[in-house]
Amino acid sequence: MEYYKRLLADLENKFSHYTDSFFTDDIEFDKNILLKKEHSLLVYQESCQLAEAENFSPRIATLIEIASLFHDIGRFEQILEFNTFVDCKSIDHGDLGGEVLTKTNMLADLPQKDQQIIIASTKAHNKRTLSENFDKETLLVTKAVRDADKLDIIRILLKEYAKKDIDKTVILHLEESDDISPEVIAYLERKECPNIADFKTLSDFKLAQLTWIYDLNFKYSLQEFKKRKFDEQIISHLPNTPKINSLCRKIQDYLEEKIAFK
Ligand SMILES: [Fe+2]
Repeated sequence: MEYYKRLLADLENKFSHYTDSFFTDDIEFDKNILLKKEHSLLVYQESCQLAEAENFSPRIATLIEIASLFHDIGRFEQILEFNTFVDCKSIDHGDLGGEVLTKTNMLADLPQKDQQIIIASTKAHNKRTLSENFDKETLLVTKAVRDADKLDIIRILLKEYAKKDIDKTVILHLEESDDISPEVIAYLERKECPNIADFKTLSDFKLAQLTWIYDLNFKYSLQEFKKRKFDEQIISHLPNTPKINSLCRKIQDYLEEKIAFK
């Protein structure tokens, strides 16, 4: 246990040192760096709670916690080089994160196999679907990071939706409209998470967060989604139309069923 604690403390230092090096005197730029730094630390915290609730072994729990801390490590180079967090307009930040971990050697104290698990999960955390070629441990770590990440992203977005003046970077510069794109509705009817490339409006984007319920892997995450009333809060920011209400009801029913049977 002592070994894992020391390892985590050392990696927290490395993470802070690396991310702090991106701060400048530009307030707008620094706001984005801080947003991603805080998000990474909160996903890390979230993953500690998930690992405890799901009773993972100390080794797996530690790997999940490290992978959570570093999952968005590509975001810092992304915003520096491209001035955007929109992957399709710049670079895949998961893949870039994998490269950053390799070139900075921040994981050098870990055994080779564990480094590979963290790098693979960093690359995979933002992909629409999971690779079928992962070994058992990589799959478990990646699933946990994806859940913890989603829980914290929803917290950030709900805070943003509640503001009068929404930060355009956070909502990917999407048009603020009540319209839902037919492509997004088609995904919902198939009980799938929509493809980010199909988002045309902010309502598409908000609905997509509700469909993340289909993509949550652990009972803890589903329970927390419900406990924090994420479903109700997202719905309260969506257009109140019979079509949207019926689609949302189906997703909420799925959440209830999953919590009961998982
Ligand atoms: Fe990410």
